[in-house]
This record gives sequence, structure tokens and C-alpha cells, in this order.
Amino acid sequence: MKKFIIANWKMNPQTLAEAKRIFNATKLGVKNIRNIEVVICPPFVCLDNLQQATGNLKLGAQNCFFEEKGAFTGEISPLILKDLGVEYVILGHSERRRIFNEDDEIINKKIKLVLKEKLKPIFCIGENQKQKNQEKTFEVLKKQVLKGLTGVSRKLVKNLIIAYEPVWAIGSGKSCQSSYAQTVNIFLKKIISQKYGRKTAQTTPILYGGSVNSENVLPYFQEAGMVGVLVGGASLNTKEFIKIIKTVSKA
Ligand code: 13P
Repeated sequence: MKKFIIANWKMNPQTLAEAKRIFNATKLGVKNIRNIEVVICPPFVCLDNLQQATGNLKLGAQNCFFEEKGAFTGEISPLILKDLGVEYVILGHSERRRIFNEDDEIINKKIKLVLKEKLKPIFCIGENQKQKNQEKTFEVLKKQVLKGLTGVSRKLVKNLIIAYEPVWAIGSGKSCQSSYAQTVNIFLKKIISQKYGRKTAQTTPILYGGSVNSENVLPYFQEAGMVGVLVGGASLNTKEFIKIIKTVSKA
């Protein structure tokens, strides 16, 4: 299966010039990488300026709204994203859930519209520290997956990517143990299999995200069976990000 390395720049960098610099350096660094789909998800306002995405370097957005058009001040339609050459949309990120009160129903509406528009949602799920301590990880993940995918047909789900991002691992430097990520990976495949059948479970990419760097990235592929990673902080450091990509590419 194709491997994915997805950069979530979040609300960084603070100037367009710096965004272009990071983007162009990354583009140069991945020029000869053929076996990995590298996706850059910059702030919305940078998308139009980074359109020269070519080859294996693709553009993604960090969010979008669940309506195509209309009076929704401050929101971004998936149609606008499509027009800008965007292929992927991160949805349900824990920062959106926690800070912007996005619940499973809202995320479900977004996933449905993004799939309908033939964009590829990177659907983020993950338990927080408290839920992990209470051993509720699987219960939380199951609810997030099933509610997020309510009403999504088997035909449409083929463009879906799932990203397991435990909230406690995001930006904390405490990356998830690969054995734990492997258990979650198997669990998620089981849920997808029960809902959509074995074939879909086998072909749906499952990614890991949370404090990924060039030192810890490989076990997520080799031990946890993930087919990709979602990288936050380390994706803004071009040297480190390219090192992550080359490490995975050579493995
Ligand atoms: P960090 O890599 O900074 O922990 O962020 C992960 C993340 O939230 C990616 O979406």
C-alpha cells in the first residue's frame, strides 16, 4: 500500500515568505522520492501560493466547513479547496474538537461532504490522557469512528484515511509506544471490517500522529503496521522533515 507522510503546519509559520521557504525546501528534498505520498497542510491563506505542488508533494487543508456555499462568515468550502488544487483535508483533529467544540456529528457532516466532493479526508481520532488512564481508549475510538462515519457508504469510504492521534502524544514529546499503536491499528481494522467488510479494512490507510520525529518514526511502520504518519512540529523544520521522509523511504 502507498505510504503517507503528512505535514500539519497548524497555525504556522507567521509569514508567507517563510511558508514558501519551507515548502520549496521540502519540495526539493522529496524530488527523488517515489514511494511516498508527501502532503503539506499549510494555513488556508497559504494554499494559493503553494500551488506548484507537483509529483509526490500534494496539498492538504487543515479543516473545512460542512456546507458547499452560502452565508457562513469565516468558513471555507471544500469547493474552494478543490479549486485551489487541494486533494486532502484533515478533519476531526483533537485541537478542533477541544478548542473549537467540534463534536462527532459536526465531523461526520464534514467527512460526508468532503467525500462527496471527491477530496480525501484525513479523519483524526484519539483518546486523551484521562480516557487512557481510565482504560477507555477502545471505547472512545470506536465511538469516534462509528459516529464520524455514520451514513458513509462503502463506495465513498474508499477515499478515507484514518489518523490515530492520541491527544496525550500531540506536541508533548511523549510519542506512543509502537506496540500500543499496533494494538490500536488492529482494533481500528476490526471496526472498519465489521462496518464495511474485510477488503475495505485492508485498503483503508491507517496513520499515526503525535510527536513523530526522525528518530522514532520507523517503528510505526515496521512494528505498528501503520502506512503513514501525521507530523506536526517536526514538519516545520525542513531538515528534520526531509530526514523523516528519507528514513521511511529507505526502510
Ligand atoms: P506534533 O507532531 O507536534 O506532536 O503534532 C501532531 C499533530 O497534531 C499532527 O496533526
